Amino acid sequence: MLPLRRPPTILRIPASRALILSTSSHTPSLRTLSTAYTPAEDSNPHQPPSTPQPLTQEQKDLLASFLRVDHAGELGANWIYKGQHAVLKSDPKTGPMIEHMWDQEKLHLSVFDSILAENRIRPTALRPFWELAGFALGAGTALMGKEAAMACTEAVETVIGHHYNDQLRELLKINHPEVNKLRHIIKRFRDEELEHLDTAVEQDAKLAPGYEALAAVIQQGCKAAIWVAAKV
Ligand SMILES: [Fe+2]
Ligand SMILES: [Fe+2]
Repeated sequence: MLPLRRPPTILRIPASRALILSTSSHTPSLRTLSTAYTPAEDSNPHQPPSTPQPLTQEQKDLLASFLRVDHAGELGANWIYKGQHAVLKSDPKTGPMIEHMWDQEKLHLSVFDSILAENRIRPTALRPFWELAGFALGAGTALMGKEAAMACTEAVETVIGHHYNDQLRELLKINHPEVNKLRHIIKRFRDEELEHLDTAVEQDAKLAPGYEALAAVIQQGCKAAIWVAAKV
């Protein structure tokens, strides 16, 4: 059981993590295939107040919950790709592709690791479960074949794309310098998740055996995981 830590007094994005915003050579996704799944949600009719406001306790609680679920999600994603990689690493085409996506997930996780530590936000208490479930999902679908592994990636990244878009809409309502930094980080990660989605579709996700059922089960599982991770 993890010790209860006091809630963050203020949201602080570690300087080294904020740097990825200015030094990254990342080019935003061109939004090709993924537009069919996740519409662009970068604007919001609820404009934030024009002058930066101190965070209210309610906003701090919301941010802590967002960061906990994002951290848990990136943890799960890492173990999904780890499971896929364990099975498909020797495939000359798919192996390097999975490795590239996994490398991006490692960065996502390390950024949320730093932000949680900096703000003394309690991580998910279910870490061993997310690791085991992620690895089993990744390895299990990869054992069904490359297409099933890609169907898993497509399903997971679809849910994550929606999830990050939902958060971005909420974060747009808050005008605070650290929240603005967080928004840029999440936007970049969202774009990378959607690139993973596009890769999976291009790599024949839809040719997986039992594609429709597989995708539906994985998507429902991911939505349930997000709901649980926000609380535990
Ligand atoms: Fe990620
Ligand atoms: Fe991803």
